[in-house]
Amino acid sequence: MEQQSQDTEIHVHAAPIRRVTTRRLSDMKKKGQKIVCLTAYDALIARILDDAGVDVILVGDSLGNVVQGHDTTIPVTLEDIIYHTKAVIRGTRRSLVVADMPFMSYQVSAEEAFRNAGRLMKEAGAHAVKIEGGKRVADAVSRMTEAGIPVMGHLGLTPQSINQFGSYRVRGTSEEEQQQILDDAHALAQAGAFAIVLEKIPLSLAQKVSQAIDVPTIGIGAGNHCDGQILVYTDMLGMTIDFSPRFVRKYDNLHERMHNAVTQYCNDVRDIAFPSTEESY
Ligand code: KIV
Repeated sequence: MEQQSQDTEIHVHAAPIRRVTTRRLSDMKKKGQKIVCLTAYDALIARILDDAGVDVILVGDSLGNVVQGHDTTIPVTLEDIIYHTKAVIRGTRRSLVVADMPFMSYQVSAEEAFRNAGRLMKEAGAHAVKIEGGKRVADAVSRMTEAGIPVMGHLGLTPQSINQFGSYRVRGTSEEEQQQILDDAHALAQAGAFAIVLEKIPLSLAQKVSQAIDVPTIGIGAGNHCDGQILVYTDMLGMTIDFSPRFVRKYDNLHERMHNAVTQYCNDVRDIAFPSTEESY
């Protein structure tokens, strides 16, 4: 009896955890399986997302707003992204981790973009990088993909161009803009991008782009015809209070719940209700 239970224990193995790959994302598009993506900026949150089954974690330059308290993503540096990507990588086992290339880390030349992408892969341990733009960054995308660096594109609303556009309005509303976005998507696909983020464009345009290219599209404010969806994790958990565009669904109200918990802690410390005898040595 004793021997039997030992044998049983020996034969119980946990299933090996396989890292999501860019090829897997491509297969998911072919099979019509939606790709789940969220941002993360540290190991603690990355672990929660990874455990919950998020396919792709983006270390977005949105960390400029979320973590650093800036109004835009412009001040974020390559060193910032390297630091946060390292932390996110430590928190994951299954998710594919994509590091966002910050403003001015890829615009100067395809060569500089290539070198900086290499740092994100080698120093930070990213599995892929993301850059904003279409035709104008196609050379950089080709240079990287030819060297084995997977690249995610980003079209539609591109926050790094905020000073050029002057607003975060919906993109692709005019025929000219729609054609531009379609052409850019083709250029990125041809240059070898493994996925393309479509941000804040009409759902009919996102559908057109998703049908026109074999590369998976990842929508944010782009409707449900995209091959996957991404949100900033602090938005979907209701931690952000001063930003609630219609494309964000709040799955919790963590700002209020955390506020209440911290208020309770303040009260308990002031009332000498914490720590109790059981919480002391
Ligand atoms: O920086 C970011 O978080 C992003 C996503 C919103 C796509 O680019």
